[in-house]
Amino acid sequence: MQKPLLWVTFHLPQELLEPIKSYVDVKMWQDPEFDMPQDEFEAAAQEADILWTVVSNRVTADVIKRAPKLKMIANLAVGYNNIDTEAATEAGIIVTNTPDVLADTTADLAFLLMMMAARRTLEGARALYQGQWKGWQVLGMTGMDIHHKTLGIIGMGTIGELVAKRATGFDMNVIYHNRHEKPNAYGAQYRSKEDLLREADFIIVLTPLTPATRNLITKEELALMKKSAMLINVARGGIVNEDDLYEALIKGDILAAASDVFVEEPVPTKHPLLTLANFTALPHLGSATVETRLGMVSRNVESLLAYFNKHSIPFRVV
Ligand code: DGY
Repeated sequence: MQKPLLWVTFHLPQELLEPIKSYVDVKMWQDPEFDMPQDEFEAAAQEADILWTVVSNRVTADVIKRAPKLKMIANLAVGYNNIDTEAATEAGIIVTNTPDVLADTTADLAFLLMMMAARRTLEGARALYQGQWKGWQVLGMTGMDIHHKTLGIIGMGTIGELVAKRATGFDMNVIYHNRHEKPNAYGAQYRSKEDLLREADFIIVLTPLTPATRNLITKEELALMKKSAMLINVARGGIVNEDDLYEALIKGDILAAASDVFVEEPVPTKHPLLTLANFTALPHLGSATVETRLGMVSRNVESLLAYFNKHSIPFRVV
């Protein structure tokens, strides 16, 4: 009997396919350095019974319409804004993600990025590596303390709570905004979005990207922030309006910003934000540790095995 075709649209070491290999025929994107181009991804979707995707693969309604055999998409991420879930639901396609397993790792990176911005570490390291460090000066490369400051978290899911937990260890006062209040979030206090924007010294954005959160932070929100405040985005590009952020940083409406995520990834080298000294960028490293990436693969493998064995499917979002 012919086995279903699983298209792995990113590069994965062969041994990680061992647990599922007997159930499927496998095709895999072979280049470990470059993402699969969208046109090749769409061709893969047209012949696949199952897609194993990453966030750079855009599974639009149109892709789904032209994928007659597709029954399941395992997405190697907790966020699944790259998939049109409404179209998937209509087509009866199962979608799974990788919740919780990356929460601590991403909370660590959110905290790291906040500290990088606060302490101007990218600027300092750049000067050092480029031979421009002229020596220790009393007010040279001075940043801002994070301890005893107010951290505002927008989006209090599991990652948000773990950021709040870390912040308490640094004696930060933590406030948050979320669709629902969370009474046990490590002592963090609920605020309206506007109050949080006005009060916080550091704001970390952690919401998923949905139609409701696209452009959640635009020039209006940036104008409410303190001139001394910093904005950190570890969620998705598109939640913070990049053009408005650039303007705010140029005009001094806020002091600095940092981001692990961008509207276009990989980021074009001429991206205006990358030209600013008060902007710190990382290349979507939120979940990038060996332990966590292997944990994410295991989550997807669990879902796939449940599907093959007709069990109820864990980590299912659609
Ligand atoms: C996620 O899981 O959504 C991450 O952004 C992918 O690294």
